[in-house]
Amino acid sequence: MMIKTAADLIKAGDLVAFPTETVYGLGADATNEEAIKKIYQLKGRPSNNPLIVHVNDIYEAAEIVTLNRAAEILAEIFWPGPLTLVLPLKKKAKIAPSVTAGLKTIAIRVPSHKTARALIKAAGCPIAAPSANPSGYVSPTSADHVSSHFSDLYILAGSNSEYGLESTIVDLSGDCAKILRYGFITPEALSEALGEKVQYKSGVDIKAPGMMEKHYSPRAKIRLNAKELNPGEKGIGFGVIDLGGLNLSEGAKLEEAAANLYNMIQLLDSQEDTTNIAIAPIPNIGIGLAINDRLKRAIA
Ligand code: TXA
Ligand code: MG
Repeated sequence: MMIKTAADLIKAGDLVAFPTETVYGLGADATNEEAIKKIYQLKGRPSNNPLIVHVNDIYEAAEIVTLNRAAEILAEIFWPGPLTLVLPLKKKAKIAPSVTAGLKTIAIRVPSHKTARALIKAAGCPIAAPSANPSGYVSPTSADHVSSHFSDLYILAGSNSEYGLESTIVDLSGDCAKILRYGFITPEALSEALGEKVQYKSGVDIKAPGMMEKHYSPRAKIRLNAKELNPGEKGIGFGVIDLGGLNLSEGAKLEEAAANLYNMIQLLDSQEDTTNIAIAPIPNIGIGLAINDRLKRAIA
């Protein structure tokens, strides 16, 4: 599919899956309530779980949210890229009510993926997009993952997701910055940028599935911190712990492991004879925090 075709579909109120640097998104015109409702319906997503809006720069963001100093600093350093900011929604912003699930704040990000940016520009509207998977399942990092779940969906195919994990979400709507979801942008990087310690805060006010215990789960049963393979299991190793099958990163690089994680899980999960997957321990530092966070939820 061409970018113009995808943009015309978005403008007409249709859904289009598209690549981003984190995971594939299921996009719709964020100003069109009917279109946004189709996202919740297709994903089987609870209506109390708000969406992330994608725009191309901080000026487009400023039409939707009230920026503050912390937002300007983080945007300057990390946009375009895998960082989502939660900020107060401007009253006059033309955002469909279902995007925010009725909240007074909205999650917004500026993606770096070329195709995502071209789509937003051609559509001429902010694009709301959750990950393009059925609610509760692992997020797609390739066009094939998307089509394996949604055979009738329009897909703007592009490269595989470079980072392979959903964006870091930082809430800047309160007195101090809080990490709502770990991702490629680490707590250390955020703390350094803002000159204050930025921490993860669980149990936020909204009961959002992305932050709830069980999420990101494949069909097969996962066992974590595996140092060897049990009978009936397929393995995903890391570094020197090789479980006889796939390896997230032979050189024990966390970036590489993050980029491979969902892809390897979905590869094994798509094989009919897979019932159990064993995954080697991942160090709980830097990007490892995000990897372990997703794995913990996958087995919850
Ligand atoms: O990397 C990503 O962020 C991908 C790509 C497509 O951009 N999108 C993504 O969307 O991961 P989704 O819907 O799977 O996750 C959105 C998360 C949810 O956990 C939701 O609860 C949270 O963002 N969220 C949205 N609006 C919020 C708000 N106003 N306050 C707090 N959390 C919010
Ligand atoms: Mg998701």
